[in-house]
Amino acid sequence: MNKDFWHNAWLSGKIGFNQSEPKQLLTKYFNCLQLQPGDIVFVPLCGKSIDMLWLLQQGYKVLGVELSPIATQAFFKENNLNFQITTNSKFTVFHGQNITILNGDFFNLSHIQLENVAAVYDKAALIALPPQLRQQYAQTLINLLPPKIKMLLFTIVYPQEQMNGPPFSVSTSEITQLYKDKFTLDILEYIEINNIPPHIAAKGLSSYNEQVNYLFN
Ligand SMILES: C[S@@+](CC[C@H](N)C(=O)[O-])C[C@H]1O[C@@H](n2cnc3c(N)ncnc32)[C@H](O)[C@@H]1O
Repeated sequence: MNKDFWHNAWLSGKIGFNQSEPKQLLTKYFNCLQLQPGDIVFVPLCGKSIDMLWLLQQGYKVLGVELSPIATQAFFKENNLNFQITTNSKFTVFHGQNITILNGDFFNLSHIQLENVAAVYDKAALIALPPQLRQQYAQTLINLLPPKIKMLLFTIVYPQEQMNGPPFSVSTSEITQLYKDKFTLDILEYIEINNIPPHIAAKGLSSYNEQVNYLFN
């Protein structure tokens, strides 16, 4: 999955992953992070996810990073949120009230941008990446996140040979392996999905399961 793949997805509107309502499993499990109002939630590969609006409405601050300027602009415009833009050498930075979205490449993040983050919300970020990039992605988080940090991570599990990602199937053992240097994994729920999302069902999967992962240290 190179950058062109994602730029093209946004340009052509092939964004089946985008949801119009906050993810129910987010609203069900977010409290396990035990955050305080005003804490900063980092949302990697955030797209224009409505989940960020939900987080704002709960009183948290949001820091997103997203490759596509189309997605970033759409998030602010579609939710009638004011924003200002600044630029630095790596990112175009969209500043709204209690929310900042860094428009650019996740792999260009630096320590200072994540130093005040209290938690990570990963929805369709790790699973958007092929195996080798998943390693780089997890290692980048491990290297850049502050020492005390928690993460809510949604993954999916399906027979990978039946479909090319994204989204990719990510096993529990892979999650453990990717994050073992910083986190302990607790699986909060494993759900066998009967109503496979249409953009995925079309690819002919025999099974599709969603896993809710809590990572802490
Ligand atoms: C599967 S989508 C999920 C978006 C969002 N999390 C959601 O659930 O709606 C993956 C997103 O990652 C973005 N992305 C892919 N590679 C990226 C990178 N290297 N840096 C920043 N964003 C990236 C894509 O543009 C896309 O919006």
